[in-house]
Amino acid sequence: MTILKIEQGINNKILRTTSKKVDNILDPEVQTLISNMEETLKSLEIGIGLAAPQVGKNLRIFIAKKSVSSKTVFINPKIIFLSKKNQEFEEGCLSIPDLKGMVKRSIKIKIEAFNKQGRKFRITGENLLARLIQHEIDHLDGILFIDKAETLYKLEDKSEIKNS
Ligand code: CO
Repeated sequence: MTILKIEQGINNKILRTTSKKVDNILDPEVQTLISNMEETLKSLEIGIGLAAPQVGKNLRIFIAKKSVSSKTVFINPKIIFLSKKNQEFEEGCLSIPDLKGMVKRSIKIKIEAFNKQGRKFRITGENLLARLIQHEIDHLDGILFIDKAETLYKLEDKSEIKNS
């Protein structure tokens, strides 16, 4: 297994591209990519989720750490329900390591996705998991949290940046 390089930068082309659906989940290349993503996320101290474009592949796959989600691999996710009720909370991203921001997200989400074996499942996420799922699905659509953040902070000195 390989630890993959994390794509970084707010104008990074891969991060800004809409990712394609996975046609054949059991394809060895797709399976290897997922294993490497798992290994990569495990190797990082920070970060609870990772989307395929963040490791240079524009495919609709993201993973989550076991500590925050009972399901850890999400392929071709589809949103079934998104609560109208929002919550603003601090967010960061492995691809934008120098910034944090307050982002409003739905507090509850229900999605349908496929696991590593190609089996369809549904999961409901609330609070942190709901936020993670929305953040990662945004990655698959070329959207970064800074696009949605009302205020941004530089991590090094906590200075505020106006986001307009
Ligand atoms: Co991110």
